[in-house]
Amino acid sequence: MKIRSENIQPKKKRTSLLCSFVYEKSKSISGLEEIDSKLGGLLKTAIKETDGKIGTLNIIHTHGKIPAQRVLFAGLGEKKKLTLDSLRISSGKIAQKVRDLGISEYSIFLPPNFELDTIPSIQAIVEGSELALYSFDKYKKEKSKKVPDLTILIARSGDIQGVINRAQKICDAVIFTRNIANLPPNDCPPEQLAKFAKSLSSKYCLKCTVMSKKEIKQKGFGGVTAVGMGSKNEPRFIVLEYNGKRGERPMAIVGKAVTFDTGGISIKPSEKMDEMKFDKCGGCTVLGIMRAAASLKLPVNLVGIIPSVENMPGSESYRPGDIIKLYNGKTAEILNTDAEGRLILADALAYGKKNYSPKCIIDFATLTGACIVALGANVAGIVGNNDKLISKIKQAAEKTSEQVWQLPIDDDYMEMIKSEVADIKNTGGGRGAGTITGAAFLAHSVDEVPWVHFDIAGTAWTQQGTKEKSYNPKGATGYGVRLLVEFLSNN
Ligand code: BES
Ligand code: MN
Ligand code: ZN
Repeated sequence: MKIRSENIQPKKKRTSLLCSFVYEKSKSISGLEEIDSKLGGLLKTAIKETDGKIGTLNIIHTHGKIPAQRVLFAGLGEKKKLTLDSLRISSGKIAQKVRDLGISEYSIFLPPNFELDTIPSIQAIVEGSELALYSFDKYKKEKSKKVPDLTILIARSGDIQGVINRAQKICDAVIFTRNIANLPPNDCPPEQLAKFAKSLSSKYCLKCTVMSKKEIKQKGFGGVTAVGMGSKNEPRFIVLEYNGKRGERPMAIVGKAVTFDTGGISIKPSEKMDEMKFDKCGGCTVLGIMRAAASLKLPVNLVGIIPSVENMPGSESYRPGDIIKLYNGKTAEILNTDAEGRLILADALAYGKKNYSPKCIIDFATLTGACIVALGANVAGIVGNNDKLISKIKQAAEKTSEQVWQLPIDDDYMEMIKSEVADIKNTGGGRGAGTITGAAFLAHSVDEVPWVHFDIAGTAWTQQGTKEKSYNPKGATGYGVRLLVEFLSNN
């Protein structure tokens, strides 16, 4: 969508729809007083009937009395609960309304005395608008309606257009992630995912290495090899490198990309199994982060590592009872072939650690259903080994409203994945703490490197229990991309 900023008074703006924000139980029309007098008090009357609850919209026709054809009041909820997310949600609602009305152009007025800082507010408006208008219509004859152009009216201070452009690049990366994550499993096997990584790398001058099934086996990726055996869609091990800062160790960003997770021999029940096309979301998030870093030219070095497999049952599948050897040199007893994510991630984390000596490692994975049991579908579980890194992640999450909640990990949890016959086993044995035992398995591959693991089983796509937010329409959310951009921008 085209978004511009303009330093013009709202009373002078020629536009189809002039949008402004209102709080719950507030009668203030801040900044629109002159318009209201021109309209003979119409706005004040309207605002009395507007409850201002978050996401509500109220449109008033101006009958040619001002250059704007209509005025829209968008609810921000209670003033004392105002956050950037109120602005994101409300802006998203506006954008969807405008699209549904078939209006080609509209304006949002941000009053000079607005409660939140200008730059993050502009960013939130852009994010809410862009991300709410996303729809995955690749497979539909009837495409969604044309997106409108937006003008943000603001008494200018500083480079507002720069802020808008930056926010749009971040949104492009989120949408890039959503577009791949939403693909059906028949059109996105590991080989295809690798092609997306390749084309991303040529567009943004990243280095990209893709390993074949044969190389994966030769290099000692026992986890990826085992999980990948059951499918005729062969596994790929994807590595992307972005260098935005000379002479510094990179950060490793790792993402689980199971292009479809049937559970394998430990097959899943068929109810909602279709949602396991989203089991590649961690990897897609990594693609989006790499894209954002490159397009924003962030002064950081990154290595993105994406192990990709399809987890299928068949005569060549790995089995419960198998013992495999991971890239980290440790043996793992397979107790459940549905706990496949940790096996491929263990390889990828160890590969990153060994070959890049990263400053830190951050991974994203739709790892455990237990995470949804614990935290629901709106909060990602995080587990890590470094308080400083964890607190930076929490700070970034706060800013982007991609919620996280830290779960503990200590030796007692590490005990739970010790095996009788191998070094470790791939489930905690049904004694609870499924998200943590999953993370404990991963911890064997990172050792002392500062590390945060994101379990995005609940947040990667909209599902039962997802809180409705305008800017997260149905399907993959792109969770984690905005958060990591925020984190990387602060480093
Ligand atoms: N991809 C699933 C986790 C998942 C399930 C994410 C439902 C989102 C919604 C993962 O591979 C898995 O199957 N995990 C198992 C682990 C168990 C066998 C230890 C699970 O959560 O049941
Ligand atoms: Mn599984
Ligand atoms: Zn899985």
